[in-house]
Amino acid sequence: MGIKKAESYVQSLLCHDASGHDYGHCIRVKNLALKIAESYDCDKNLVALASVLHDVDDEKVFGHVGHKHLVEFCRKNNLDAEYQNIIISIIDFLSLDLKDDTVSIETHIVQHADNLDALGAVGIARMFAFGGANGKVVYDGTSTDSFSHYYQRLEKLPNLMNTPFAKDVAKKRIKFMQNFMAQFKKETL
Ligand code: ADP
Ligand code: NI
Repeated sequence: MGIKKAESYVQSLLCHDASGHDYGHCIRVKNLALKIAESYDCDKNLVALASVLHDVDDEKVFGHVGHKHLVEFCRKNNLDAEYQNIIISIIDFLSLDLKDDTVSIETHIVQHADNLDALGAVGIARMFAFGGANGKVVYDGTSTDSFSHYYQRLEKLPNLMNTPFAKDVAKKRIKFMQNFMAQFKKETL
């Protein structure tokens, strides 16, 4: 199944998203996933497809649509039901923020790639973009501002990663974010 078709579909669906789930995010996740996948004997086509398509039905973007867009894409491109269900199982796992050794290596790879794109300079940009798109203030010292998302979720993400490349990149990106958070706090005094 041509990854290019999936990329065009995602571009048409998410090119105007302003909440951090845009086409650029999907392409970065695909590239990170393929980089992680280099160290594994795994289904690289599945890794590429699932990572590029992982946000096409994201609840935060589209509301409760189930797997409407994914199913539409699979139908139009004659993907068989079994492959479609495998992609769905990978996507469903992403929203859980779970470490579960029983899921497939492809699932781990896409999860780690998606989470890596929530870290580093890109992660900071996405955190404030998401906050703005969802009516959150940048910083007011409460647990509902965009800033606090780093402590509530992002700093814990490296612990979910056990693929060596992802873990290494995650640690570097967290270090960068820690410096940013410290500098931000200094500037709010
Ligand atoms: P993904 O699985 O692609 O990271 P999410 O929907 O969980 O998707 O988040 C999209 C982006 O928005 C991520 O960069 C995430 O860190 C950020 N984000 C999610 N929830 C919040 C929040 N409550 N405040 C600030 N940023 C958030
Ligand atoms: Ni994502």
